[in-house]
Amino acid sequence: MKTYSVALIPGDGIGRDVTLAAWAVLEAAAKNYGFALRATEFPWSCAYYKETGAMMPVDGIETLRGYDAILLGAVGWPVEVPDAVSLHGLLLPIRKAFVQYANVRPHRLLPGVQGPLKFGNFDILCIRENTEGEYSGAGGRVHQGTSDEVAVETSIFTRRGVERILRFGFDQARQRSGKLASVTKSNAQKYSMVFWDQITNMLALEYPDVEVSSYHIDAMAARMVMAPESLDVVVASNLFGDILTDLGAAIQGGLGFAASANINPGRTAPSMFEPVHGSAPDIAHLGIANPIAAIWSGAMMLEHLGEPDAARRVMTAVEMVTSDGIGTVPGEHKTDAITVAVLSRLG
Ligand code: IPM
Ligand code: MN
Repeated sequence: MKTYSVALIPGDGIGRDVTLAAWAVLEAAAKNYGFALRATEFPWSCAYYKETGAMMPVDGIETLRGYDAILLGAVGWPVEVPDAVSLHGLLLPIRKAFVQYANVRPHRLLPGVQGPLKFGNFDILCIRENTEGEYSGAGGRVHQGTSDEVAVETSIFTRRGVERILRFGFDQARQRSGKLASVTKSNAQKYSMVFWDQITNMLALEYPDVEVSSYHIDAMAARMVMAPESLDVVVASNLFGDILTDLGAAIQGGLGFAASANINPGRTAPSMFEPVHGSAPDIAHLGIANPIAAIWSGAMMLEHLGEPDAARRVMTAVEMVTSDGIGTVPGEHKTDAITVAVLSRLG
């Protein structure tokens, strides 16, 4: 039987609950479709940091490299470990080391979910650059603690990096409605963002069948609220994409529905699948985290592994459950109850 080996990193807070929920659903789907999933769990988290002084072992990246995919819950427990330490010790290095340059985040309303907008007929696929840009980590501080202190953090945009993420977006647009929106702030940032716009225009010539529009990030934020149905594939830099996808999560009813895939399109290393929400310390241990974002991320993992039928089946089961009003209102149903409902719809 075809077997995929998956590294499970539940991480912190609600990460554990939602990862185990997603795993149960994925295993059931695998059984229905005649393939197997083998999990190896890694305890890497802020608790692990407290014990060992590191978020993962020094050979953590090399250990993960051998897996077909990574399913991650959430990283961060700021009362014990500063976020800048925990995220730079686990999540961000994985995205970079495994060249997961395309962070793919779908934003649409599941049936039965009431979003904050008047109209719900939007289906946006945000493609966020995931390895460079504003998250390059290039910078430093001098004269620390004095009134002369200086902090510098440089965004890095490379031709290779910008071209490959835009190309990924164009390919996605071609498979969807043929519309692509490229997001910059090239009226104010005259080097990196003008560069991004130029590469967008250059690629547009190669994709005459794709209708391209360029927006500034501020105008895009407004458009996602006022006219989200006018958008399809939206491509943005690391930080702009980060911000837009929390907005996307909000219009789709909340972070409990926001799935994401950190994709290495060249398949030279494993891709990683994770809900957009973090560890949610305020509701950790209450058993009320919505597992739908993690289950949806898991479906994206099945799709990437080459099991699109199983992936679609998982999403159909989720949609039947939300249509029944289960898991649609924050806190109304327990994590377990939502998971059991999805499992029973899977059959
Ligand atoms: C996300 C998160 C992370 C990011 C944080 C936790 C570093 O907000 O995946 O959107 O900014 O990439
Ligand atoms: Mn974010």
